[in-house]
Amino acid sequence: IVKRCLSTSTAKNAINNVTIIGGGLMGSGIAQVAAQAGNNVTIVEVNSDALKKADIGIAKSLERVGKKLHKDNPNDAKNFVEQIRSRINGSTDTKSAVQDADLVVEAIVENMKVKHDLFKTLDQAAPQKTIFASNTSSLSITEISSVTNRKDRFGGLHFFNPVPMMKLLEVVRTENTSDETFNAMWNWGKAIGKTCIKCKDTPGFVVNRLLVPYLSEAIKMVERGDASAEDIDIAMKLGAGYPMGPLELADYVGHDTTKFILDGWHEKFPDNPLFEPTKILEKFVKEGKLGRKSGEGFYKYN
Ligand code: NAI
Repeated sequence: IVKRCLSTSTAKNAINNVTIIGGGLMGSGIAQVAAQAGNNVTIVEVNSDALKKADIGIAKSLERVGKKLHKDNPNDAKNFVEQIRSRINGSTDTKSAVQDADLVVEAIVENMKVKHDLFKTLDQAAPQKTIFASNTSSLSITEISSVTNRKDRFGGLHFFNPVPMMKLLEVVRTENTSDETFNAMWNWGKAIGKTCIKCKDTPGFVVNRLLVPYLSEAIKMVERGDASAEDIDIAMKLGAGYPMGPLELADYVGHDTTKFILDGWHEKFPDNPLFEPTKILEKFVKEGKLGRKSGEGFYKYN
């Protein structure tokens, strides 16, 4: 048994050192779950204020987990938080932060040019063995990887918000991703407690490819006056058993985000009617009605 344990923990593909680039909403969550699974984690941010913000967010989230795990023992809960936090380091130096990385997960702004600049730097700085992954929601992994010399060691790891709560991880392979890389990403996803699904590098992968056009179709229904937002939401909750209606969900996702994704896909695939712009989204974004986060969208929020 001892032999088997040793051979698993020293397996060729084992990922122990993870560097997360971007400690925002998604990067912080990914760092937290990786540290909870025992990885040594480094978060790279643009400045020390951003690192501090990430640290505070992770500490708060871990405190909630600690309280749940150690209901009757506040001391154990505190130790839990400190232990996990001790595995997370912060850095503003991208190059040195990837020197020992087995895996780099990129979670920076959704912009191809900015991602290309980053991956060019990373490719030069990281050791040969390091696997690169992007958490992009809507861009092509193949296109992101095109600026590197390690297209076989490149894939997509698409998490969902909030990362510590959402069980799913889409593990994306391009035409160039090697079996070894894919298996390492897949095994890491399982090791950090996610349910993994395998998918190709197509726009939106699985969830967003189905979800974004669904939201857009519901918005177009309101636009045509087929039914009210309220009635469409009631219909999908009571008729299809969805926990939220599509317009409530669109308010939750944020109309700027949905519009951004649709615009990007429409530009790339102009013949696909599912990606066509909607008038309501344009109007909402122009007026700053972004949904829940701005206080108003299809509904009003306090
Ligand atoms: P965010 O804006 O909360 O965080 C991005 C962070 O990256 C910021 O803190 C920023 O300072 C940092 N950053 C930017 N350029 C950097 C660089 N060159 N080096 C280091 N740090 C840098 O954004 P969010 O929501 O976390 O999204 C990140 C990525 O994850 C995007 O590609 C997005 O499409 C994807 N994603 C977002 C989801 C969501 O629900 N928000 C869900 C799944 C994926």
